[in-house]
Formats: sequence, C-alpha cells, structure tokens
Amino acid sequence: MPGGNTRHTVYRQPHQVYAARGEGCRIIDIDGNMRIDAVGNFTALIHGYGSERIREAARRQLEAGLCFGMPTEGEVILSEMLCDRLPSVEMLRYCNSGTEAVMNAIKVARAFTGRPKFAKCEGAYHGTYDPAETSQEARPDTWGEVDNPVSVPTARGTPQGVLDDVVVIPFNNTPVAEAILRAKGNSLAAVLVDVMPNRAGLVPARPEFLAMLRRVTREIGALLILDEVITFRLGYHGAQGRFGVDPDLTTLGKVIGGGFPVGAVGGRRDVMAVFDPTAGAPAVPHGGTFSANPMTMMAGIAALEDLTPEAFQHLDRLGALFDQGIAACFARHGIPGQVTGLGSLRRVHLSDAPLSDFRSTFAAGDGAKRVAALARALFEAGVLIAANGLMAFSTAMTAEDIQEIVDTFDRALPRAFA
Ligand SMILES: Cc1ncc(COP(=O)(O)O)c(C=O)c1O
Repeated sequence: MPGGNTRHTVYRQPHQVYAARGEGCRIIDIDGNMRIDAVGNFTALIHGYGSERIREAARRQLEAGLCFGMPTEGEVILSEMLCDRLPSVEMLRYCNSGTEAVMNAIKVARAFTGRPKFAKCEGAYHGTYDPAETSQEARPDTWGEVDNPVSVPTARGTPQGVLDDVVVIPFNNTPVAEAILRAKGNSLAAVLVDVMPNRAGLVPARPEFLAMLRRVTREIGALLILDEVITFRLGYHGAQGRFGVDPDLTTLGKVIGGGFPVGAVGGRRDVMAVFDPTAGAPAVPHGGTFSANPMTMMAGIAALEDLTPEAFQHLDRLGALFDQGIAACFARHGIPGQVTGLGSLRRVHLSDAPLSDFRSTFAAGDGAKRVAALARALFEAGVLIAANGLMAFSTAMTAEDIQEIVDTFDRALPRAFA
C-alpha cells in the first residue's frame, strides 16, 4: 500500500501505528497502547466502541446472512427513522460512503434541473468525487480574488471541463456569494453546503448566509443540497434542525451506519423521483452491489435508537466541558488558541485571529505545522485527534474522560511550540 495504509487522512510519520481494537471511548494499538479516541473514525463512531445494541444487531444480521441481491426490511426501517427525524427528507436512497452520497446528490440535481453546474464553498470537504473536491486544497497562490474564487483542482490531472462546471463561493460571505450565485443563475443545478465545514475551519454558518442560500436557490431555480455527512450528529433533527434550514436534498453518512460503511441521499419526493424506475428507465440509474447492505442497515437502526434527545444533551454537555477546560488551558500557558465547533464536534486552532471561513482559517496558520505537532504530541500522550485538530466526542464518554483529554492537552500544548 503506498504510504503503508489506505487512507491519506490517517497517514502518520515516521511510520503507521495500526489499531487492534476499541473499548468504550478508547482505542488500543497493536503494541497494546491505549488512547482516548477523540475522533471516532473521523466522526462516524458517535457511540464509541461500546454499544451492545449495535453489536447485537450486527451479530443477528451476521447469522441471517451478510448481503442479498434483494432489498431487506432494514432499509425500510432505517428510512422511516431518518424521514421521521428530517422533515425535509421524504424519500431516501443508500450507498456506501459520503463521497457517493454527494456524487448522487449532484447527479440528482443535474437530472432534475437539466443544468450542468453546481456551487460549493471554498475549502469545504465533501468527499473525493472530482467536482465535489474542487477548491478543497486552494492556496493563496491559486485561489484568486475573494470576490471571484478560482475553481482549483485537488487531484492532479482533474480535467478542466470538471472545474468549469463548479462555481466556488466564499463560505459565510453573504454579499459576495450572493453576487456570484446570481451571476451564474440559470446554469446552476444546485448549491452544495455543509453548515459547519471541518476543513474550512469548523466555523458555524452565519444565519444570514444560510437564509441567502435558501432564498437565492429558490429564485434562480437551483436546489439546495445540505451535506450532513458529519453534521447530522449535531442534533436529533440533524444540523438542519439546529440551524433551521429546509434543504431540497440532504446527504448523509458516517453515524447513520452505526460504524459500517454508509452513505445516503434523501430529499423532496418530486426531486428523488429521478431514481424511480416504475415508469421506465429512471433519469438517474443507481445500483451498487453493497448499497443498503443489511449489516449497515441493522447497525444504523441500532445507532439511531440510542441517539435519543438525552444522548444529544449529553454530547452537548461534553462539548461545553471541553470548551471550558481548553480555554483555561490556553490561558494558563499564555498560548493564543481557540476552539470552533458545536455539539459533539470541535476543532482546535492555535491562533486567536477571528475565523469565519477557509481563507481566514488558512491565514491564521491552520495550514501550518503547529496543530499537526499538537496532534502528534497528544497521540504520544494518550489522546487521538485528527491532524487538523478535529475532534468528535461520543456517548461512550463521561465528564471524567473529557477532563482526561483536557489534562492531556495541558501537557501536550507546550510541545507543539517546542
Ligand atoms: C462533509 C463531508 N461530506 C462527505 C464526506 C465523505 O464521506 P466518506 O468519507 O464516507 O466518503 C465527508 C468525510 O469526511 C465529509 O466530512
């Protein structure tokens, strides 16, 4: 495997450290070292490793059969649960990753509107589908003027034709984004947005920014796609409930599979009809050998059953405890730092500059080495977070676990500046 593993995002120097197992909120590597897992497979494991309900659901399915060339009851039950929680979602289709969910949403929007382009926010990560990853790695020498951001390729060799069909808007900059969207008007099939994009800073969207996106998409006849692959974990009704957004399409992944591979696209009945084969060939054919695979469906149902309103209150409390602890930690060391995020999601920044979007986060030094050095120091000291400072708390955690994370930060912080 190039680099010694299969995921660029978990690559570690000078060599890989391989995981062996998990227990509760802890991860144990093959050398027997135990750490608090404060990233939960990049936000997927909202219940940590400890949920007996998920394990039991998976065991039962294991006995019944791993996967079939027929639909199963599990996909009906999970769909009912998701439609119940997300009023904007009237119909759903499954796939196996958030990347596919976003790809499908874009294809649906193109088929429904008959338009070729979509808009996305600079720096936002939506998986690795060519158009969706545009400008995710934009840099000062490539990103262009703030009022006219360039569509920057992420993978070398991305065809110019792909980039030409992606309109890049600045996150949280309402007047500039509105002007760009109106200028592209009738060529846009959709606007794709994550209300708190991790790679663009994990800064919550401003209410006026989201209101503008909803208003303008309706006026220009484009769909609003909310990428909730990560943010569904922000509340019982997802981020759309927490932020009061009414999207046309929603993409889901991560927690809705209970730890198994998953993705889903859902939304308005008339829009989702592009998948409907009842009257002949659908506008968007969609298959997938493992789409809606029963192991994922059963684990996902179990995960949602444990995601009660009380579970979200607990997660919010953990987030608030972390904020208090970490603020005291920065103050004690006299180190400029701040934490962004909401609910069970946090991102640590070693800068006190105001953050609102990708460019301000980049300028504040996030792209630089200090946060990565902090993540390495935490790893050595017993806490796993993402290299960019992203953290995701789980229902398996207690206030004591958060205190342990904060205490470990306290020891690791000076080493990020050593
Ligand atoms: C907002 C968002 N969309 C899509 C994806 C892609 O999901 P997956 O890794 O399951 O392909 C991610 C992954 O982190 C994500 O954060």
